[in-house]
Amino acid sequence: MARARPPKGSRGRRPLRQTSARSTQPTRAARTRGPIKIAVLHGPNLNLLGTREPRIYGTTSLADIEAELTRRATERGVELRSAQTNFEGELVALIQLARNWADAIIMNGGAYTHTSYAIRDAIEAVGLPCVEVHLSNIHAREAFREHSVTAASCIGVITGFGANSYYLGLDAALAHVEATRRSHGKTGKRQQNTGRRRSKRASG
Ligand code: DQA
Repeated sequence: MARARPPKGSRGRRPLRQTSARSTQPTRAARTRGPIKIAVLHGPNLNLLGTREPRIYGTTSLADIEAELTRRATERGVELRSAQTNFEGELVALIQLARNWADAIIMNGGAYTHTSYAIRDAIEAVGLPCVEVHLSNIHAREAFREHSVTAASCIGVITGFGANSYYLGLDAALAHVEATRRSHGKTGKRQQNTGRRRSKRASG
């Protein structure tokens, strides 16, 4: 799960780790100043990107995607930490861990997107804004991929743009956190996950 160290002296990507005792503490109040911090979480089989069904997922490896995300984040003064796991419970633990550190989550849950109430519950529980991303267009593939269990708990979904889905996801997460910070500046309110179900249809 752990990945390469960020470049020295930069605010680059660092791996999320699951060993923090603080993960049982309640969600902290949103930070309204300081560098924006984003957790990037990748689910099962995404470690195989580059060689996995390249016709569908492209030839860019996960390491390449993360390097480009880090480059873009560093350029904007944003700190990234990322992790990939093939295990559902570990993804839940990583989401919980993010609440002690991150301002937002970018997540590609892989196949758990379509099945995991536990991951959906974790997103709801931590209350962090989450952007769901997919390399492929999940609406243009097999029927079972068409429904995302987690989407209704996210602020939005970006699907079908290959590796660009992650970069667009970074833009979306940053825009959301920046807007939230601006509005907190005006109202003094705490950050909330504004992706909660808004309509009956979306809660399916
Ligand atoms: C995916 C789409 C999922 O349906 C699939 O199970 C994946 C990858 C994507 O990025 O396109 O593992 O999340």
